[in-house]
Amino acid sequence: MNTPHKPVLYKEIIHALQPKSPGHYIDGTLGAGGHARGILEACAPDGHLLGLDVDVQALALARENLAPFGQRAQLTQASYISLLDVMHEIGWDAVDGIVLDLGLSSMQLDTPERGFSFTHDAPLDMRFNRDFGLTAAQLVNTWPEADLADILFKYGEEPRAKRIVRAIIKARPLTTTAQLAEIVKRAYPEHSRVHPATRTFQALRIAVNDELASVEDALPKAISALRSGGRLAVISFHSLEDRIVKDFFREQAKDLINPPYEQIYKVERKATLKEINRKPITPDEEEIKENPRARSAKLRVVEKL
Ligand SMILES: C[S@@+](CC[C@H](N)C(=O)[O-])C[C@H]1O[C@@H](n2cnc3c(N)ncnc32)[C@H](O)[C@@H]1O
Repeated sequence: MNTPHKPVLYKEIIHALQPKSPGHYIDGTLGAGGHARGILEACAPDGHLLGLDVDVQALALARENLAPFGQRAQLTQASYISLLDVMHEIGWDAVDGIVLDLGLSSMQLDTPERGFSFTHDAPLDMRFNRDFGLTAAQLVNTWPEADLADILFKYGEEPRAKRIVRAIIKARPLTTTAQLAEIVKRAYPEHSRVHPATRTFQALRIAVNDELASVEDALPKAISALRSGGRLAVISFHSLEDRIVKDFFREQAKDLINPPYEQIYKVERKATLKEINRKPITPDEEEIKENPRARSAKLRVVEKL
């Protein structure tokens, strides 16, 4: 496989989804197709996979890598928030398993002109889908001070958000990753192990791609796409994402009973799913040694009741 991206928690994803022939599966974050390949191998000879990614470059690479599976792999440029629509368009009414491996791929991080990394100087872009939405440069150059500070604080958990944003406003217009990284560095005169721009870059990437809202939107859709007994496996890479996944799974794993005073209109929602693991599955030391980018991954798996 031509893949500069090592699939994270690969064995664990295959174990979680238990793909079988002739099942139907969705990979909502195709990337280079690493997890997709494992699923297609495991559901041979008659299982099918629908693969989605918003990034045309990822899709092109996945097409190349998954070509040997022929018609069993159907790949489309789409967001995972549209997974129900896309699956209905191709005539599927329910699926046996879905994987969402959130965030960005190594290809995206390591391609300087995508603007995700402060280690290369490049235009500040950060969009997963380069045909759509505001770039990070447009965001830092046009958003009001209070909104920018809010983003850095909420999405980056950046304690010096206000100071950084004041410096950004002074330095406008910003066009490159190096300019932004330098501004953040100046807000942190002391030396730290992690580059001080890490949190700011994470925050802007989340905002540019509306990542948290997308995850919130996608989870209920993914559950309704599953047939009973089907599984959803989600890998997240930071605590904000993991909290959304955890809270949604916990909530849906409980029966919902309205308080007694609303008895007349009492609506009970039975639990819609069961948690396969209450604690997140994380990469072992060997995987982290081979692929340090896997270190913050957390996998949660549920089964539709
Ligand atoms: C961590 S990578 C996935 C890697 C993949 N599992 C593999 O094994 O190669 C995440 C991918 O999700 C894509 N992505 C991000 N947001 C998306 C969205 N809303 N819908 C579909 N794909 C998305 C990114 O473009 C990126 O290619």
